[in-house]
Amino acid sequence: MSRIPFPDGFIWGAATSSQQIEGATTEDGRGESIWDRFAAESGKIEDGSNPSVACDHYHRWREDIELMKWLGLGAYRFSIAWPRIIPAGRGQINPAGLDFYDALVDGLLEAGIEPFPTLYHWDLPQALQDEGGWAARETAEAFVEYAAVVTRRLGDRVKRWVTHNEPWCIATLGHEEGHHAPGHKNPAEGLRVAHHLLLSHGWAVGAIRHEVPQAEVGLVHNYCPSYPASAAKGDRDASRWFDGFFNRWYLDPLFKGAYPADAVADRVAAGHLESADPPYILEGDMAAISAPLDFLGVNYYSRNVMKAGPDGKPIDAKNIPKEELTDMGWEVYPEGLYDSLLRIHRDYTPSKIYIMENGAAYDYPVDARGRIADVKRVTYLHEHLLAMRRALAEGAPLAGYFVWSLLDNFEWGFGFTKRFGLYGVDFATQQRIPKDSAFFYRDVTAHNAVDGDSPSSTQGEPRALDR
Ligand code: FCB
Repeated sequence: MSRIPFPDGFIWGAATSSQQIEGATTEDGRGESIWDRFAAESGKIEDGSNPSVACDHYHRWREDIELMKWLGLGAYRFSIAWPRIIPAGRGQINPAGLDFYDALVDGLLEAGIEPFPTLYHWDLPQALQDEGGWAARETAEAFVEYAAVVTRRLGDRVKRWVTHNEPWCIATLGHEEGHHAPGHKNPAEGLRVAHHLLLSHGWAVGAIRHEVPQAEVGLVHNYCPSYPASAAKGDRDASRWFDGFFNRWYLDPLFKGAYPADAVADRVAAGHLESADPPYILEGDMAAISAPLDFLGVNYYSRNVMKAGPDGKPIDAKNIPKEELTDMGWEVYPEGLYDSLLRIHRDYTPSKIYIMENGAAYDYPVDARGRIADVKRVTYLHEHLLAMRRALAEGAPLAGYFVWSLLDNFEWGFGFTKRFGLYGVDFATQQRIPKDSAFFYRDVTAHNAVDGDSPSSTQGEPRALDR
């Protein structure tokens, strides 16, 4: 078997987020989050579920660290629940919230796993939403206060920090399309939210560096490469539109200190911006947003193929049989990861990139032998690792990779219907079961290498967790 090695020191990790795994949403002084409220009231969670128990990680984190150890993880990406730390969003600190993450960090370090936290993975304190949420500039100020509190407490042990996870999802899914909390459908508000998220990031970079000498700070963007369906001008323009709407809207401010002019013009034409220079962008904002980053976090799942619709408006051109899509309806396109990494490297030159999420939703039952033979997930991961390795060989400054996700969990508006975990979770008993993909990934972390041909570690008899 040929193995393709990764550079020494390459970080192999797995990722989760607080709202998706912790549960215990009313324990030990935690405040309400916008996702608690949204799940309770919106009728928009596919299976009618809510995140109040989820994977019960709040009580089972020690066991979950054992699972990470078994996988051979070098790092664990998790997020901190703002409503646990500052239940009303600003002001009063909840010591029990800080204690929880303090113990988790110590537990990880004892296990030889680097903690790699994200400060905001979507669980805004509901109290701040009641005062306007991310549409209000004051929320950006509150975020900086929160970031300082957390990094002051954990910064002696935690050196790598993510500010925000996927601002596009927060702005567009949460405020333009209404699929995510807080469930608004207001494009103008979405763009204002995007600006305040970016601004709060830029301000927090300064606050974190102040609290944590030698900190590495970055932001995570869900990069989705866009391809035109044909070489026709209309299709190329549709693809340019999507790239501006999804990727450049965030990466240009971060790396170039300006929103992309063509995408701004698109938004003005659509009536989502009153002018190219909306009043909520104040002097100094763009300089704050483009504060130098130590790394860019990239989440990659799939691509978009775009064409001009009958009326010229950009539309999705993909037409792929359902069997070839993941359970999210996403095309499996590893080449897109390669293209994305090289494009980001070329156009934005971040000094470092971590793949902060990559993975696939597939539902496999536990079979008669007690095994979850998630063949398609293994193939998905294997092919994406090979694509990533090729981008690395061509100069992309990749320093680590995190699988989404360690565990099956609460997948936002889809509730528990989409399973992304390396470990399957039986939500009735909270039992964790390693899937074949866990065995596959364990082999990768053990050798710091990926099989050049087919992933051999999925073959053979069912294996027990030997720990
Ligand atoms: C990303 C989110 C993560 C999870 C995966 C599937 O957009 O960051 O929480 O939902 O998608």
